[in-house]
Amino acid sequence: METETVLVLDFGSQYTQLIARRVREQHVFCRIVPATIDLEELKAIAPRALILSGGPASVYAGGAPRCDEGVFSLGIPTLGICYGMQLGCEVLGGKVHPSTHREYGRATLTLDDTSDLLSNLGDEITVWMSHGDRVEEVGESFDVLAHTANAPLAAVRHKERPFYGIQFHPEVHHTPDGWKILQNFLFDVAGLKGDWVMSSFIESVIEDIRTEVGDGQVVCGLSGGVDSSVTAVLVHRAIGDRLTCIFVDNGVLRQGEAEQVVSTYRSHFHIKLRHVDAAKEFLGDLAGVVDPEVKRKRIGHRFIDIFKREAESIPDARFLAQGTLYPDVIESVSPIGGPSATIKSHHNVGGLPEELGFELIEPLRDLFKDEVREIGRELGIPEEFLWRHPFPGPGLAIRCVGEVTEERLVVLRQADTIVREEIRAAGLHRKIWQAFAVLLPVSSVGVMGDDRTYESTIAVRAVESIDAMTADWAVLPADLLRRLSNRIINEVKGVNRVVYDISSKPPATIEWE
Ligand code: XMP
Repeated sequence: METETVLVLDFGSQYTQLIARRVREQHVFCRIVPATIDLEELKAIAPRALILSGGPASVYAGGAPRCDEGVFSLGIPTLGICYGMQLGCEVLGGKVHPSTHREYGRATLTLDDTSDLLSNLGDEITVWMSHGDRVEEVGESFDVLAHTANAPLAAVRHKERPFYGIQFHPEVHHTPDGWKILQNFLFDVAGLKGDWVMSSFIESVIEDIRTEVGDGQVVCGLSGGVDSSVTAVLVHRAIGDRLTCIFVDNGVLRQGEAEQVVSTYRSHFHIKLRHVDAAKEFLGDLAGVVDPEVKRKRIGHRFIDIFKREAESIPDARFLAQGTLYPDVIESVSPIGGPSATIKSHHNVGGLPEELGFELIEPLRDLFKDEVREIGRELGIPEEFLWRHPFPGPGLAIRCVGEVTEERLVVLRQADTIVREEIRAAGLHRKIWQAFAVLLPVSSVGVMGDDRTYESTIAVRAVESIDAMTADWAVLPADLLRRLSNRIINEVKGVNRVVYDISSKPPATIEWE
């Protein structure tokens, strides 16, 4: 069955991903491509509809992103949002001007033509505006569908071509009926069916993997996180024993983690798994190191070395399966630059380096995180893998502030286990983005029984976030904090003080190093 595809042409809006989400929520498959996509490439995808995103630029500014003007002559139903509307109107003969009334926030949209795009909405709706420029004139070739007090041309339709433009943002929650407008566009204007479901997606991904791999061998690095787990199980479904997973125990994993990964993937999924216990090598590299970036680099290099060594020993391994997700892909194609400063080196590192010489298999590259979880559920992956909190590649090494030694790791692991147990027991695991213990290089005086103690400090960190770019410290219930403190001090030998981290990101970061 052919998948109906909608393309979003990205002009750099902060809401581009949201547009794709909203379309997929209507069971229509949707991909984001840079606005500058080559026309032939676009035609080859054979999209059934196009959405032109908003963007921060002014249509008339030098260097403003533009799509190939041929896009407007393809006869494909197209919806321009904000900047996308302005560009479409400009190309098709209208005039765009900086507005004397910049408009940000809620506005009342009065509907003038409710025959298609704006049908079933009543006479007026609340919409979210966020623009400086606006379309001033559209001439004879457009119909006006709606207006607001500040934007006489808030929604327009071209008379001959299937182009619609709206000045407001239907994709954000502040436009409560926005989804209905997208629905009207997808189903009434573009005539789509909306039959995209996860199970059919799984089937087609498995087929694609089979075709791509042929009779080749695939390796996959397993970390125990949701992305690599779902990738491995999908590839395994496609090619069975021609997949070999490599799980590198770097000695800075959490309590019980290695055993859990090995037993789940070997015994439950019957996946061929190489468990490489390289703790000694990693801890050797970390001896005496306190600088967080040096820790990261040493762990990263050692990981690549070991992975390479293992992968090279698998006969005929030509493909590498990676759990790259859609947001990673989009970040790298967006025409507007990504994050500028390197805060921590991992932000600029994606997966293994190219010189390993593998062809990449990335079955999740079109998916968002919650869609990956849904697939994982359908594939029967246990809940604790699907909902695992993000865990950094350098593991506990960057939560052991100061030097990483076996003894300090034992202390940290015990405290970390207590934090994770208690957060789960309080039913907060899914609400919280990450919760963990950090071992500080600070000893302080305490008293236990009649004795003076001089022991280590554990900081408890729990944050709420949606993407790790920003985070708020979680307001944990007092009785939970009390239990955490009591248990850590009583059960973990060598700790006599527990503090709770009440710093948000920014200006702090989630991890301490
Ligand atoms: P920060 O500490 O920068 O963390 O606020 C943001 C997110 O990234 C994770 N993190 C890492 N992940 N390698 C990784 O794979 C790293 O070196 C690393 N450092 C931080 C962190 O756990 C949080 O989810």
